[in-house]
Order: sequence, then structure tokens, then C-alpha cells
Amino acid sequence: MNESLTVAGAQAPAVWDLLPAEQQPQWGAHPDLPQVRRTLREAPALTSAEDVRTLRRQLAEVALGRARLLQAGDCAEDIRVCGAADTAAKAELLADLAGRMAAHTGQPVVRIGRMGGQFAKPRSRPTETTHDGLDLPVFRGHLVNSPEPNGQARRHDPNRMLQAYEASSAVLRALDEERTDAYGPWASHEALVMDYESPQVRRDPETGTPYLASTHLPWIGERTRQRGLAHVELLASVANPVACKVGPSATAEEVVRLCRVLDPNRLPGRLTLILRMGVRAPGLAIAPIAEAVQREGHPVVWLSDPLHGNTVQTASGIKTRRLSDAVDEAVAFRKALEQQGLHPGGLHLETAAADVTECLGGPVADERALSGRYESLCDPRLNPAQARELIDAVFS
Ligand code: PEP
Ligand code: CO
Repeated sequence: MNESLTVAGAQAPAVWDLLPAEQQPQWGAHPDLPQVRRTLREAPALTSAEDVRTLRRQLAEVALGRARLLQAGDCAEDIRVCGAADTAAKAELLADLAGRMAAHTGQPVVRIGRMGGQFAKPRSRPTETTHDGLDLPVFRGHLVNSPEPNGQARRHDPNRMLQAYEASSAVLRALDEERTDAYGPWASHEALVMDYESPQVRRDPETGTPYLASTHLPWIGERTRQRGLAHVELLASVANPVACKVGPSATAEEVVRLCRVLDPNRLPGRLTLILRMGVRAPGLAIAPIAEAVQREGHPVVWLSDPLHGNTVQTASGIKTRRLSDAVDEAVAFRKALEQQGLHPGGLHLETAAADVTECLGGPVADERALSGRYESLCDPRLNPAQARELIDAVFS
């Protein structure tokens, strides 16, 4: 039995439901939406408040400089690849990469998958033109629509939220089986679709405080982190450890304001800042932000996402990333923080457990090799060999 936040069955909207939200699906006036929200509200919590508390204590260790963090997985999970064996393979890669980080740094490594709910994507443009000149709504993740290039597949269907919930449930159960200790593996995803996340806010039976039961660590992205909008309010209102992406356009003042909202009590492990500046951002723009956050006394976890600022298109239009750019950005991140006397907590990566050929470098020698096994539903992921090479280059 899960106690929902609504009082005595009344469906009073939460604060975040009343605020404007970027990047939301256009369900139209789909007749199934109210029932889907109701089903999600009454469905079992996918994570326990106790587990969420445990993860926050582990992240406090990272914030205090006594441990590291590896957060990795698909850009967009595939709803059809959520069986126990699929999850075990992803957990195994996480463990392998974290083991490498631990060996290099001499510190324990908290393992968090981009999994068990990573089914919704923010997009820069609402539509795209196909090879046949067809204008279609873009693919927004299996929680919203389907990637096949036709109008029917791209329609936003709220019933997909229930499929995403079921797939997440399977992944989270499998992750529970894989969890050997408090270091993980834990689940995380971008909390993007309010109709999916909001009904999954529950009360911690012990403390009475709300927590988001759809995952252990929700994050908000570069496109939804504006203050005063629904996503920030949602994350500010729940007890989970939370994370926020920070891109090259963010000013130090903006980040400090976000810290005040998301970490008002200056609690170690509460807030993780994921820097994704791009290797070409001037000085990676990290120093002034790190300095300002430190001055304000927010004991955040500092993570580097060295991929999202470094996406490029080949001449033939394939979306890719260079391993060398990722190495350069992550090394610069580490140095910038260490120079400031801060702890480079770790990495946030897009990885595949299979030997895909989506990023350039290591075993993927040139652009021609990209066509070998390019399977990502969204952004290009590092394959295991590339991810190992990155970790060795950054931490050894
Ligand atoms: C992502 O992590 O897949 C993503 C969309 O990131 P960002 O918000 O940093 O662009
Ligand atoms: Co991505």
C-alpha cells in the first residue's frame, strides 16, 4: 500500500503541477490521460524511502571527498531491453568501470545506472524532416512515442507511461537483486514528464516527507533547470538526492540560485551538479561556478558529463562524439576542481553494454566504422572499451 500525497482521495494538484513545464508531451486531449495518472498514483512505489536515504548517505561520502561516483547508461533506454539479463549486463559494465575507477583513485565508487526510468528525452526541436521529406514530431523516448519514422509511431500516447512504468519496475527489481552493498547499483533518470513523475511522489512512512518513488536519483537537464518552473520545484520538494545538469551558458549566479533552491540546508549528498560544458567552452567555464558554489557553502557532488557538450555530426549526418574530446573535457574538469581544492566526484556517461560503434576513438577507428553497429535510440554511447579508456585516461 502506498500512501499518495493527495488527501483522502481528493486530487489536489501539487505546487509543481501548477507551474509551467518545458519539454512536455503533447498528449492532445487524449481521453486516457486521467486514468493513466490515476493508475500511476495507485501503483506500487518503485523505490523505497529507505533505499533513497541510503543512497543519499553514500553520496554524502562522495561530497565529502571520501568516495567517487560513476553514473552511466543509455541516453534513452529501450522498453524492449529491460529483462533481468539485460539489466544484469548493464550492472556488470557499471561494476567493471567502477572497479577501474576505484583501482585508480584508491576510493570506493558509488554505482548509479541511467536506467529503470530513462525513457523520456528533451529535444532541441519539436519536429524533424525525414529522408522522404516528411515532417514528423521527433522521437521523445519510449515513454512518449516510438522512433519509427511515421506519423502513427510518433504520436504522443499517455498509455506509454504505463508501459514505461512496467519496464522500470522490471529493471528496478533486477537492480535490487544485483545490489551487493550500499555502493549500488542504484537507479537514476531525468525527471522530465510531469504526468509520469508527479503521481509517483509518495510519503516516506518513517519521516512523513515526500520522496519521488520513480527512481533513487532523479536529475533535471540543461533544458528544464530554469528556476520557477515545474521541474525545479518538483526536485526541490522531494527528499531524494537530486542532480542537475549545468551547461556552458550557465552563469555562476544562476548555479548558486539553483543550489539555494535544491540544497537549502547545505546537506552533503543532497545535490549533484553534472557539468557538461563541451571541450570548446572557454576554460570549460568551471572555475567561476565551482568557486561560487564553494563560497556559498553547498557541499555538492561534482560530476563531469564529458559527452553532451561534445556531440558532432559527420559529413554524412551521423550524430557522434570523439573519445578524445571526452577525455580532454573530463581531465580539464578534474584539474579545475583540484586546483580549487575541491573533490572531482566522478563521471556521468552514456554507455552501452554491447560493443556498439556510435562514438569515434579506441576500437572505432574512423567515420566509416560508425555504420557497423549503431543502435542508440538517441545520443551516441561509448562502448565498454571506450569507457574503460576514458576512465584510465582521466584517473590514472
Ligand atoms: C541527457 O543526459 O541525455 C541529456 C539530454 O542531457 P542534457 O540535459 O545535459 O542535454
Ligand atoms: Co543523451
